[in-house]
Amino acid sequence: QDRIKIDKLLASEKPIDCVVAKGWVRTRRDSKDFSFMELNDGSCLKNIQIVADSKLENYSEISSLTTGSAISVTGKLVPSPGKGQKWEIHADVVEIVGIAPEDYPLQKKRHSDEFLRTIAHLRARTNKYGAAFRIRSEMAWAVHNFYREKGFRYLHTPIITGSDCEGAGEMFKVTTLDPANFNKNEKMDCSSDFFGQEANLTVSGQLSAEMFALALGDVYTFGPTFRAENSNTSRHVAEFWMLEPEMAFCDLEGNMDHGEELLKYLVRHAMDVCTEDLDLFANFVDKGLKPLLNSLAEDKYERINYNDAVDLLQKSGKKFEYKVEKGIDLQSEHERFLAEEYFKKPLFLINYPKTIKPFYMRVNDDGETVAAMDLLVPRIGEIIGGSQREERLNVLEERMGQMNLAGEPYWWYMDSRKFGSVPHSGFGMGFERLLMLITGITNIRDVIPFPRTPGSIEF
Ligand code: 4AD
Ligand code: MG
Repeated sequence: QDRIKIDKLLASEKPIDCVVAKGWVRTRRDSKDFSFMELNDGSCLKNIQIVADSKLENYSEISSLTTGSAISVTGKLVPSPGKGQKWEIHADVVEIVGIAPEDYPLQKKRHSDEFLRTIAHLRARTNKYGAAFRIRSEMAWAVHNFYREKGFRYLHTPIITGSDCEGAGEMFKVTTLDPANFNKNEKMDCSSDFFGQEANLTVSGQLSAEMFALALGDVYTFGPTFRAENSNTSRHVAEFWMLEPEMAFCDLEGNMDHGEELLKYLVRHAMDVCTEDLDLFANFVDKGLKPLLNSLAEDKYERINYNDAVDLLQKSGKKFEYKVEKGIDLQSEHERFLAEEYFKKPLFLINYPKTIKPFYMRVNDDGETVAAMDLLVPRIGEIIGGSQREERLNVLEERMGQMNLAGEPYWWYMDSRKFGSVPHSGFGMGFERLLMLITGITNIRDVIPFPRTPGSIEF
């Protein structure tokens, strides 16, 4: 007989004579005639109680089952007299699948996030991380659903690339091993690059997405991206997932409308679908989570100019660690002040000075600023970065010249401006930052299964 997952069992309308449940024992306690086990299979936060009668043939093994052990239970789904649980299983057979000895690190007690990071291969078996990664999965589906409903095409952009989209030089180099010099016992000899050409891991799929937006209309890419920033913050990882929509015939205004609609949809979806898992975060991680999510889903987002934001920060009287000055990129503390303390809701910061933004952003009529937009949200700071793109060939060439980017590597990019160029816009949303926002988890390492940060490459 097939197993039924615990979320389905707990949602049953009626008792069932014979069910099979499989999972890992969270706790066990014994009375004179019974052993009671809380069984979890990862399908939901809740456990199902298993009642094993001492008359069962292998009762001595059952009554010595340890936390973390895997079992397969065949029995009857019956109403539970216990509080807070509708159903329990009276076991006819308890098959022991895999024992977890006493040194299983996840014994029943509260573990710190720091400790759990050192056992990232096991932490998804805890309530908190099980919930976090179920939400992560659900939100990835929600992204695809949103774009499918809107008629966007899903585009796979390359991981290995020759270009540096952001122009920040924060790239991991790709090299090929020379088999002739490859000796397993020695350090790897990274002797050549990508078959004789420079190559790196992508920092953004945007440039490819632009090419496809100018062919298929509205597209999005959603995949892993890499940044070789050797910084140790709670909001940066070297490998993260980015969602990047790119829309033809769309200006900055339309880009902001789209970003706002997207974030509202995703937050609303989490509240509607991930109810039980979100409650865990609202109750134990962040008491202010529900009001925040409601406001993210309901309130109109603010839209203000970079220059006005700088004025506002300077006049705020707030002591910042870093100085705020026009022409300098804002720090996370400034972004959070604006979203969290000043506006108390998300805001789009637009029209940044061109000197601090990449080559592809559209130059505004003032000649000084570009049609950039960052979406700043409480708790996180920047969650979205994007812009209207420079579609005018001559302006783009001039800008690239000023930035010492003129020349060969971008001939294909320039082609899109030569042949039927149109206004277009897009942005990138950090998927992990979205998950931090939705769960209230404050460290990015705790919303990605196996975080890649300096010093963390095992697992
Ligand atoms: O602002 P960024 O660098 O924008 C781009 O890469 C554009 N090419 C995207 C586009 O227009 N298609 O990155 C976009 C978002 C940021 O707002 C942030 O949420 C996230 O990606 N992000 C990171 N998340 C985790 N760790 C890092 N090191 C990140 N760097 C950026
Ligand atoms: Mg950015």
